[in-house]
Amino acid sequence: MGSLKAVITCVNAYVPDYILTNKELETLVDTNDEWIRTRTGIEERRLLKGEGKGTSELASQAVLGLLEKSGTDPLDVDLIIVATVTADMHFPDTATITAHKTGMKNAFGFDLSAACSGFLFALTTGARYVESGNYKKVIVVGADKMSSIMDFEDRSTCILFGDGGGAVLLEPQESPYGFMDSILHSDGAGEQYLHMKGGGSRYPSTHETVDKKMHYLFQDGRPVFKAAVKGMSSSISALLKKNALSPDDISWIIPHQANKRILNAVADYLDFPIERVAINIEKYGNTTAATIPICLWEWEKKLKEGDNLILTAFGGGFTWGAIYIKWAYNGNNN
Ligand code: UT7
Repeated sequence: MGSLKAVITCVNAYVPDYILTNKELETLVDTNDEWIRTRTGIEERRLLKGEGKGTSELASQAVLGLLEKSGTDPLDVDLIIVATVTADMHFPDTATITAHKTGMKNAFGFDLSAACSGFLFALTTGARYVESGNYKKVIVVGADKMSSIMDFEDRSTCILFGDGGGAVLLEPQESPYGFMDSILHSDGAGEQYLHMKGGGSRYPSTHETVDKKMHYLFQDGRPVFKAAVKGMSSSISALLKKNALSPDDISWIIPHQANKRILNAVADYLDFPIERVAINIEKYGNTTAATIPICLWEWEKKLKEGDNLILTAFGGGFTWGAIYIKWAYNGNNN
């Protein structure tokens, strides 16, 4: 018997049907399929279409599937945390809206904003609730409708992002498996390189903020690229060292999907085989807080009880870090 652990007992994700291909992007901005593939690894991404549909739609679809797949009564869920930077609105929070849409009448919820690292921060937070012994079923979601903050006239950003949502169920178990450790960081000096300025309390929405395109994501890609490689590599190294693990002990790295070249560089730096890095950026692009749970969902069938996983991310803030998980079940049993 081990101590009380927060164990991921189920994972699910949802991506919208509409596929935006590199070819279609060629009709919108001065870009080409070859540049996008070679510089980022992205081939297509999904977009959520439809009037009045926000991130809670992506989160709710992922959660409804999770409840069904795990046989969980929505009334038994204690807490839902939604990591997102594209909340439906300033308030109420998207977690509370999602709880309402999915019938979780007894749950409380809140959003967590840490950009592309949001799922790591939310999973660490959710695990602490579960480990306390007071919360039996906690759902952690990463969901973003990035198309809502994309400038489809800016080729440097609109080719990168997509929409999607993923969710995991955390439950307490006396187990050697589950959430083992995490190392998380933030540094506000990164604000200048990656942000969306308009619509917050510093620059409330006005005609001027709209005219100046301040309601779109801004990114200065090169410094972010360098910081992402350094941040993910160093947090993984530190986490391995802290837990007396070597790269050989790790079955999979499940990383945030921002750029395939970043993932190659991180694997090189760690001397970790790229074949054991989960990569699906070609299908979905960068879905911000959703990349890791979508990737876990796609990799679930390959995962085995006892596998050591490292989740890692880097994003706006800057925020970054890594989580060490011992996976608790054989994926092919599902
Ligand atoms: O998830 C949050 C964290 N975000 C990241 O980790 C993203 C990190 N950054 C990146 O992944 C890369 O910096 C980008 C993919 C955003 C850009 O790739 P890059 O290799 O850094 O390109 P660049 O911005 O240095 O631009 C190189 C050239 C420029 O042309 P010149 O000045 O050399 O003539 C750009 O204008 O590529 C041009 N370019 C494009 N060309 C065709 C930029 N975007 C495009 C495009 N199509 N879409």
